[in-house]
Parts: sequence; C-alpha cells; structure tokens
Amino acid sequence: MGIKDDMPAGSPSTADLAPQGGNTARVLITGASSGIGRALALAYAREGASLVLLGRDAERLGAAANACLAAGAEEAETYVADVRDREAMARIIEAAQEKRPLDILVANAGVSTGLSPGQIVETPEAVRAMFAINVAGVFNTVEPAIAPMCARKSGRIAIVGSMAGVRSLPYSPAYCAAKAATHMWADSLRGALAPHGVSVSLIVPGFVKTPMTAALKAWQPGAVSDQRAALIIKRGLERRRPVIAFPLFIYAAMRFFALLPPAVVDGVMRRFHVDVPETPERELS
Ligand SMILES: NC(=O)c1ccc[n+]([C@@H]2O[C@H](COP(=O)([O-])OP(=O)(O)OC[C@H]3O[C@@H](n4cnc5c(N)ncnc54)[C@H](OP(=O)(O)O)[C@@H]3O)[C@@H](O)[C@H]2O)c1
Repeated sequence: MGIKDDMPAGSPSTADLAPQGGNTARVLITGASSGIGRALALAYAREGASLVLLGRDAERLGAAANACLAAGAEEAETYVADVRDREAMARIIEAAQEKRPLDILVANAGVSTGLSPGQIVETPEAVRAMFAINVAGVFNTVEPAIAPMCARKSGRIAIVGSMAGVRSLPYSPAYCAAKAATHMWADSLRGALAPHGVSVSLIVPGFVKTPMTAALKAWQPGAVSDQRAALIIKRGLERRRPVIAFPLFIYAAMRFFALLPPAVVDGVMRRFHVDVPETPERELS
C-alpha cells in the first residue's frame, strides 16, 4: 500500500462539479487503473476535479493519473492499495480526507469469476476471493468516509454493483451473490445517510467494454464503451440518482426476470453459452 504521488496543479473547474465553497470537486475512485474507474476519472478530470485514484498496478495507475492531469485535473493523487486490506484502506482514505474533504467517493474496484461450460461449481477459493474483494472491499472503501461526510452533512457515495446483482445468473454464482450483497448494502445506506446530508447511489452497469468483459465468452447485448459508461455514471451522480442503471432495457429485463417463476428463468438462462473464467484472486492471507 501507500505509494502516493502528488502531481502538479492543473486547470479549470465547472459550476456543476463545484462543491459548496466554489472549489473543484474532490473525487476518490477505486479501481482507477483500468476500465470504468479509469474512464470515470478522466471524465471528472476534464472538469478540473481534484482526484484521488486507487488501484493495485502502479504503472497503469500512474498512467491513468498522468492522463487525468493532461485532461485537466487539478491534481491526481495515486495510492497503490488492495481493497481487501482494511487497515491500509482506512489509512489512505483518512489521509485523503484530511488533506481535503471528499465530495464524491466511488467504490468501483472489483473482479469477476464464474463457470466454464462443463464446470459444476466454483472453487471455494474463488468464491471467498470474490467476497473479499467485491463485498468486503466495498465496505473497506466506504466505511472510512461515512463519519466525515455525515459530520460535514455533505458528500456523495457511489457503489458499483451489476445487472448480475439484480437477478442471479447460473454462470457466475459468487459474482451474482457478491453484487447482490452490495446492492442491498447500498440501498440500506441510502436511507440511513440521507438525513445526514449524504447521498448514496447504486450503479448498475450492464455490459461495459473493459478488460473484465474482454475475458468473457458470451453474447453481450447492449454493451457500451467505458467512456459512455463513465458519462452516464457522472451525470447520474450529478443528479444524485439513487440507482444509475444502464442500459435501461437490460435493467427492465432483469427486474422482470426476478418476478417470473425461478425455474422458467433458470431454464432460459441455461440456453446461453457463457464462459466466465475463474478468478486467480484469493483472500488475503
Ligand atoms: N465491465 C462490465 O461489463 C461491468 C458490468 C457490471 C459491473 N462491473 C463492475 O465495474 C467495476 C469495474 O470493472 P471494470 O469492468 O472496469 O473492470 P477492470 O477493467 O478489470 O478494472 C477493475 C479495476 O478494479 C481494480 N481491482 C481489482 N481488484 C482489486 C483489489 N483487490 N484491490 C484494489 N483494486 C482492485 C483493478 O485494479 P488493478 O488492475 O490495478 O489490479 C482495476 O482498476 C467492477 O466492480 C465490476 O464488477 C463491470
């Protein structure tokens, strides 16, 4: 954990990003070294945000920060950290807030795992890694920001879930279960934190073209680029939408499937040929 680069100051701000006090927004994003997180960082950078970017791959994270500065970010601090490491995450997020309060925190880092054709169950190791990263990793990211945001009575928390958390799919049991857990947590937090002036948005992406989905062998209806996903997410957060789900036709279909008899939906889902590689990730020892 803990490599931090303070980069030189950059450029402009916009009114709609500006927090109370008129400065540019301060935005923390996990998983900023790749895919959706990186694209979201760049989208905020173009509006002159002060960025706090977290990831594990120092080289890709540094490249993302440099791209953000080139795009107009006021600053782009980077922290190499694993979201499974609760203490390290608390230290980093507390330090980032002490320097300047966070306006927006995006718990985005995550991995996928699933079944290949013919494989009956996921390995227990992969299942536990999924919960360590996609569930505990979200707790480790969000918890340190809750008290400071509530004390200031301001702040936005975004939790990245998935369509797989709306209705379970037979090809990725642990991923679906982990995302469903984050959906429930985000929905509960939203109600609990609203009276304290803090908004919580659950982000529910369909297929987004990133390294994660490049490894997936499946029909990907409605797939969007990471830049498009970032713009939808950013706009939704500006409007403090409780749920930012896209594309809407997939969200509607998944909600509808959740209402149908489970055996019918399971039967339909099984007809698709889907190969989701098992994650090499493990729990932290
Ligand atoms: N792409 C989709 O279609 C899609 C759909 C629904 C939901 N999502 C969700 O969107 C989020 C981002 O996914 P993506 O598609 O952008 O994937 P990606 O391109 O593979 O990026 C994943 C990011 O998460 C970081 N990460 C993974 N494990 C980590 C850990 N233990 N500690 C710290 N950082 C970690 C990675 O950092 P390093 O590379 O530096 O390790 C990387 O920056 C995930 O939560 C995913 O479940 C994606």
